[in-house]
Amino acid sequence: MQIKYTLSEDKMPKAWYNIQADLPTPVPGVLNPATGQPITPTDLESLFPMALIKQEVSTEPNIQIPEPVQSIYRQWRPTPLYRARRLEKHLDTPAKIYYKYEGVSPAGSHKPNTAVAQAYYNKEAGIQCLTTETGAGQWGSALAFAGALFDLEVVVYMVKVSAQQKPYRRALMESYGAKVIPSPSHETQAGRAILADNPQSTGSLGIAIGEAVEVALGNKTANYALGSVLNHVLLHQTVIGLEAQTQLDMAGDYPDIIVACTGGGSNFAGIAFPFLGAKLRGEQKTTRFVAVEPTACPTLTKGKYAYDFGDTAHLTPLVKMHTLGSSFVPPGIHAGGLRYHGMSPLISHLVELGLIEPRAYPQLSCFAAGVMFARTEGILPAPEANHAVKGAIDEALRCKEEGISRTILFNLCGHGHFDMQSYIDYHAGRLQDSEYNEQEIAMALAGLPVVS
Ligand SMILES: Cc1ncc(COP(=O)(O)O)c(C=O)c1O
Repeated sequence: MQIKYTLSEDKMPKAWYNIQADLPTPVPGVLNPATGQPITPTDLESLFPMALIKQEVSTEPNIQIPEPVQSIYRQWRPTPLYRARRLEKHLDTPAKIYYKYEGVSPAGSHKPNTAVAQAYYNKEAGIQCLTTETGAGQWGSALAFAGALFDLEVVVYMVKVSAQQKPYRRALMESYGAKVIPSPSHETQAGRAILADNPQSTGSLGIAIGEAVEVALGNKTANYALGSVLNHVLLHQTVIGLEAQTQLDMAGDYPDIIVACTGGGSNFAGIAFPFLGAKLRGEQKTTRFVAVEPTACPTLTKGKYAYDFGDTAHLTPLVKMHTLGSSFVPPGIHAGGLRYHGMSPLISHLVELGLIEPRAYPQLSCFAAGVMFARTEGILPAPEANHAVKGAIDEALRCKEEGISRTILFNLCGHGHFDMQSYIDYHAGRLQDSEYNEQEIAMALAGLPVVS
């Protein structure tokens, strides 16, 4: 009985899949907050290289992966697809559960798939320094790794609560040569404004993004790199789903249900978009797509679909997305990568079209699922990935109740080896389920920008 479906390096995808080619209606455009008008490529040039700006708006179905990027991908790609036979047995379910394991990358998650591509295009454009934010530390580690390979300076604003929870992530980023600054910091106007208001601020991705963007805007040789949300980031992640398609062919299966966690939407898009594209093109009809988020930061399930800023300091353009309001600071749950007030415009658009089902879980049930997964499959998931594990287990239990065998595919987007404090706290009974604060969200949403 086969467990692992592996591909040789020559089977790695040579092009990323761009879902914008197959959308029934185009994703709403990005607006310049000063004018309320659609943003122009030149508006974005102070932050991103032109190659990435072009990818952001491209409607080409396939975008070639540059050979230098492919050659770095080969360090860990193609990643394995596993059949979770022991988990299936433990659940006593008729479902078949497969998971794509992105934790084999050097940084331990899917994030290097885009970090390497972004570093490459920035280096080609003559950029010397990249600034960024990180929540869980996975994205910061990925960009620090990519920066080391392309000889780029990397400056990471790390959400303060994550910096406290994950000192070893910081050490990893510094080992790759990056500079790590807990956010909010005194180094930027954006950080100082937050600290003046609340010196005890635990930080948020929105605040850290504001700091990183401010630094990039003030330095001609620096650009900003975002680890999720934007179309080009989701595009780079599609290598995950493209490989999974070939691997499931080898297994003689096709997924009925695809599950992934959603912070900004990139690992979800990575595994889901190639399959969703097939559905949009009418090549198959029945696959369901489940996006799982934490109840503490329920962007898709409780947020408003509106134009909002990507950061708290309001330095970014306006994007149409599900949002909890750019000033919302989610509770300090351990799934730091899921603590973002917004969501990728592409994912939000597809939720609005009824093509993706959003779902929210509290963190304790996700840790319980992660521990069950570790005890059956041996891999300890990142706290973010636990949300996908929980979603997949729930779908498998539903199959058991209904007596139906369905094929479930989920993305195990990262390992939890740098997240052990969260497991220590979980086992000691110190973790709590934090619901979102309705009043705080209402306040943050009241501050949404007015767009005519
Ligand atoms: C392991 C892991 N999973 C998921 C996420 C959420 O991001 P996204 O929704 O873009 O995949 C993060 C973000 O930092 C992460 O580190």
